[in-house]
Amino acid sequence: MGFRYLDVRRDGGVEYLTLNRPDVRNAFNDGVITEITWWADSVAADTNVRVVVLAGAGPTFCAGADLEWMRRMADYSHQQNLDDASDMARMFLTLDRLPMAVIGRVHGAALGGGTGLAAICDIVVAADDAMFGLTEVRLGLIPAVIAPYVIGKIGRSAARELFLTGVRFGAERAKTLGLAHAVVPASELDHTVAGYVKDLLAGAPGAIRAAKQLIAECAKRSAGETATLCAEAIALRRSSPEGQEGIRAFLEKRAPKW
Ligand code: COA
Repeated sequence: MGFRYLDVRRDGGVEYLTLNRPDVRNAFNDGVITEITWWADSVAADTNVRVVVLAGAGPTFCAGADLEWMRRMADYSHQQNLDDASDMARMFLTLDRLPMAVIGRVHGAALGGGTGLAAICDIVVAADDAMFGLTEVRLGLIPAVIAPYVIGKIGRSAARELFLTGVRFGAERAKTLGLAHAVVPASELDHTVAGYVKDLLAGAPGAIRAAKQLIAECAKRSAGETATLCAEAIALRRSSPEGQEGIRAFLEKRAPKW
């Protein structure tokens, strides 16, 4: 698929996905949603990709849903609206379920769905002047399809405050909330992202995927309910070629081969 709204670049095991609609601050419409979902489906199936870096071109990371597109929705039937919203929900779900590590490189504004995109990342590196916000209620809308991911990151209490007030908040607050993991001057964003990429490439690819999957399973259930699942996960890992290689490499005082 040729992309109109995305810039995609591969460097070894790292896939760089850049939202590329800077004239509207990378707001996403149906075309962007189709492209991102297609990209995410194909990258999810590609075991060569070990890390994804998600970024935005131009002055901002992402201004959320395209309000011009949303305005046009008023002329659509309820079913058309629902189909359209379901496509957006599927985009977020596919992104959230990407099996490899996803790093968000957030600069400028990450508003509405832009905050939602940050929430589906495993690691978010934010510029110290980045601005987040669940601004939807200020537009008469609600943060709907992104709600599970944002609440999953910031919790119910902060969601009650931020979904209801719609206030914008800075990178330090985002870090306190668990939405961002590192806050650095904009000039150090790429360097910091590169450091995380290096850390992620040091881990065994299969182990990182298994760890990410286990987090998703454990987050949904109690420790009692997941005890068997967790035991099975480590039993599988210990006897896997990666597990054996990692342990052997440590004991032989050498770098593991992956
Ligand atoms: N949907 C559609 N167009 C958008 C947009 C959005 N979410 N966000 C910005 N744009 C457009 C603007 O309308 C403007 O278009 P124009 O050049 O034709 O006038 C262009 O992008 C640049 O926006 P501008 O506000 O001038 O840029 P800025 O850099 O000063 O500010 C933002 C960037 C993102 C802070 C600001 O545009 C903003 O607050 N956008 C709304 C974000 C939002 O609330 N999103 C939630 C959607 S549910």
